[in-house]
Amino acid sequence: MDFFIDTADTNEIKQFASTRLIDGVTTNPTLIMKSGKKHEQVIAEICDIVGTMPVSAEVLATEAKEMIAEGRQLAKIASNVVVKVPLTLDGLIACEKLQSEDGIASNVTLCFNVNQAIMAAKAGAKYISPFIGRLDDIGLNGLGLIKDIRTAYDNYGYKTEILGASIRSAHHITQCSLIGADVVTVPPSVLQKIIKHPLTDIGLASFLADAAKSN
Ligand code: G3P
Repeated sequence: MDFFIDTADTNEIKQFASTRLIDGVTTNPTLIMKSGKKHEQVIAEICDIVGTMPVSAEVLATEAKEMIAEGRQLAKIASNVVVKVPLTLDGLIACEKLQSEDGIASNVTLCFNVNQAIMAAKAGAKYISPFIGRLDDIGLNGLGLIKDIRTAYDNYGYKTEILGASIRSAHHITQCSLIGADVVTVPPSVLQKIIKHPLTDIGLASFLADAAKSN
């Protein structure tokens, strides 16, 4: 399973990019706003940091024609930019045109059901982003959606990669890996947490104490 980091904070990206623990970056307008930088500027900085890894940059237009123009502009920043479009009819039209006319890959975002995910696959999306945490927030089953999309895609051999988004916990990541999501995009705070385990810390402390005794 690939791990993308879900942030526009270049310091956090630098910390993880050098470790090879991550395979890409996703951003959205909220994360860009938190970075305090201009959209195209921060996407260019991220692309510089991560080399050839895919970097999702979201369009702000809502009509297909403008989305396509904006997507083409974003894709000029670097060859690894993936254009993020919302799961609307206009977004799907833009996704299809960017792929078929320009060879630009799209990440179709804000997916909340299987039918939407199938439509994104038919539009040629490189990634589909179902929002797990936001479904859980309203009492629905975010991980259930990942499982159902996996089944539907496998039924028909769709190649669109399932990118589990709106990840809030280690449990979300574990379950995505067991279900067979292709990618998870994880906030840096959650990425830090999944590496830690109290028994690792206790075990290490005890080994170090014993090593000190034998020196
Ligand atoms: O980038 C999209 C997604 O990961 C947003 O997550 O926590 O704002 O629902 P969240």
